Amino acid sequence: MENEKSASSSTFKMGNSAQERSLPYVPDCYAVPPSYEPRDALDSTSESVPTIDISRLKDSDDERRRVIQEMRLACQSFGFFQIVNHGIDQSTLDDALAVAEGFFELPAKEKNKFMSNDVYAPVRYTTSLKDGMDKIQFWRIFLKHYAHPLHRWIHLWPQNPPEYREKMGKFCQEMRILSLEIMGAITESLGLGRDYLSSRMDENGMQVMAVNCYPPCPDPKTALGLPPHSDYSCITILLQNLTGLEIFDLTAHDGSGRWVHVPEVKGVLMVHIGDHVEVLSNGLYKSVIHKVNLNEEKTRISLASLHSLGMDDKMSVPCQLVNDENPVRYRESSFNDFLDFLVKNDISQGFRFIDTLKIKY
Ligand code: OGA
Ligand code: NI
Repeated sequence: MENEKSASSSTFKMGNSAQERSLPYVPDCYAVPPSYEPRDALDSTSESVPTIDISRLKDSDDERRRVIQEMRLACQSFGFFQIVNHGIDQSTLDDALAVAEGFFELPAKEKNKFMSNDVYAPVRYTTSLKDGMDKIQFWRIFLKHYAHPLHRWIHLWPQNPPEYREKMGKFCQEMRILSLEIMGAITESLGLGRDYLSSRMDENGMQVMAVNCYPPCPDPKTALGLPPHSDYSCITILLQNLTGLEIFDLTAHDGSGRWVHVPEVKGVLMVHIGDHVEVLSNGLYKSVIHKVNLNEEKTRISLASLHSLGMDDKMSVPCQLVNDENPVRYRESSFNDFLDFLVKNDISQGFRFIDTLKIKY
């Protein structure tokens, strides 16, 4: 088996990946180059992650303004914040994690029904980023499925575990309501008003669930669960059962940045600013670069709910945010444009969708 150590990515396709087979070593094509891992840039403390009590959005106008100001600061400095008092029952979160875990524990035959390498498929089960195709492989197995409108997609979701549709469906609906509330606050924080995107996100918007599983890795310092990347979405709401997520704080160390470890606190949800809010803010808010570290002993499950405009609805810079000093800094783009980008580019090599949108003056 040792000759597999130096085999190329294509050896580790779905069904044969190192993470599915629990290989006792990390094959070379999973090793991330040192440039990915400025370990000295890692701060092990997590004190500096902004945390926002969003129940206050429903308080007095003054209190809402204060929360929105906190969000504005978090979006400008980190492109990331944690939310507490979001009003979602702990049981809804626990149940969704449990059915996700149950799905990954099913026999391969059952899971393989959803296997697909087509990034346009509304439901797909695969490994790494693009299974066996990118130069570097990642120690991840995932199921992605569309979630809005629920009735249009839920019949395509797994029927096993038997409660998957019900429990994951409930979680998705709650995430969706929350995403609309947060997006309203974000557009308000940009001076665009609370309803600037409501109709485009509500009836016609997309919600994609990434249900991620990171099995234990024999050498967690060598491989990664996911490489540094930002999400294409407007916002992503994330729930994790274990630590592993790290976000890049661009402003630290006089602009050279540092990795910040995000703790796992029961009931807390994390909000990532995605590329489409960076565009919406004309660059005032930054989509957060994040990556996933691995664990030697435990399986990590994360649920990432990505919220964006409709498939072909283009996000562009609002004219209200453009003036002589602030020209339009990004080209318009849709979710579908992102998928086209994903097909053509190897994200493991650091290519970012947002960079293709930037207008140079
Ligand atoms: C993602 C992602 C983070 C995690 O699915 O885009 O960044 O913690 N997930 O799994
Ligand atoms: Ni992500």
